[in-house]
Amino acid sequence: MSEGQNGSIVQVRGLRTYFPIKSRSLIPRVVGQVMAVDGIDFDIGAGETLGLVGESGSGKTTAARSVLMLVKPTSGSVKIDGTEITGLNARQLRPIRRKTSMIFQDPYNALNPRHTVGAIISAPFEIQNVKPEGGVKRAVQDLMQRVGLNPEHYNRYPNEFSGGQRQRIGIARAVALHPELIVCDEPVSALDVSIQAQILNLLHDLQNEFNIAYLFVAHDLAVVRQVSHRIAVMYLGHIVESAPRKTIYSMPLHPYTRSLLSAVPVPDPVRQRQRTRIVLQGDVPSPIDPPPGCVFHTRCWLYERLGKPERCRTEEPLLRPFTTDQTVACHFAEELVGQGVGESAAEAAAAAAALSATPDDDEPEAGADAGATIQESPVQQA
Ligand SMILES: Nc1ncnc2c1ncn2[C@@H]1O[C@H](COP(=O)(O)OP(=O)(O)O)[C@@H](O)[C@H]1O
Ligand SMILES: [Mg+2]
Repeated sequence: MSEGQNGSIVQVRGLRTYFPIKSRSLIPRVVGQVMAVDGIDFDIGAGETLGLVGESGSGKTTAARSVLMLVKPTSGSVKIDGTEITGLNARQLRPIRRKTSMIFQDPYNALNPRHTVGAIISAPFEIQNVKPEGGVKRAVQDLMQRVGLNPEHYNRYPNEFSGGQRQRIGIARAVALHPELIVCDEPVSALDVSIQAQILNLLHDLQNEFNIAYLFVAHDLAVVRQVSHRIAVMYLGHIVESAPRKTIYSMPLHPYTRSLLSAVPVPDPVRQRQRTRIVLQGDVPSPIDPPPGCVFHTRCWLYERLGKPERCRTEEPLLRPFTTDQTVACHFAEELVGQGVGESAAEAAAAAAALSATPDDDEPEAGADAGATIQESPVQQA
């Protein structure tokens, strides 16, 4: 990877997290593995946001939780501030826990309904035995004020708050000890669009104030675009492309990134009308039995357009540096250099023709879902 090795708050190398599948017999045996995260690398610098984006089931949550050892990785390395954490026990993890925290997708489930807001936001102080000047209650009320909650609501319960306010409670708890890293797992996905912007602005302001690094997980490229410095695109347990935000949107090189991007509206109505949407068909294949070679080839429009090169089915593409700050895991990324994103109707039509002409009998599992179809209609609002 091209990111700075020194000064990284998070350094992840070859991270794999598999979930064993056990038989239901009297003495359960491991009969398979869900390869939820299958060898990913990334770095996050101080005060930086890495957006991790991909469809549901691509392994984002598992990756996010593995980085904080909330789920134990199967192999690979995770360093927080230079300390390898994958082998540490609960006691050894405590000082790391102080530097890190997590914001969850669902503010309804993430807060204990029987605890007051005061108790919820005090918890990190209690757990880490931190005694702020002026007392915990004062610190908590300052935090409530900072995140836009009324400090007088200290003794209220989560069910007395709206969804957006509950997420503010979760954010106050997450920033309480001024962590260096916060892992945000779809923090606005459960909120109304109007509330989303407020919460994203709050996260942004807190980042500037406390120099927090975020690992920001979302399934929606429009959301990560608003918050990320760099973006990593995940597909079926792999990172398929990684680049600075601007590059991902202006010069994406992986066919999957292009498919995701073609669904994101652009602000210019003329360009918006000219764009062609690449709609991926079917779901992400099962991580229990991922496709051989390139995991994306069963749904890849470029694979179809190039006449199904054997290499895509047999050889796993490694995440390779393409420029100094862009990496891509595609054997044929060079094919897309200089071509606009979803703007070339000819490119799209060629892919669609290739798809309808050649049913994909190599991939019985993906069946009728394999490949992509192209819609000429205007892009739907995300
Ligand atoms: N505890 C678990 N046990 C077994 N399989 C799991 C577990 N958690 C997640 N998975 C599987 O791992 C894959 C990735 O899931 P997840 O990390 O939640 O993806 P995402 O957050 O991108 O939707 C999915 O196929 C999911 O069913
Ligand atoms: Mg998830």
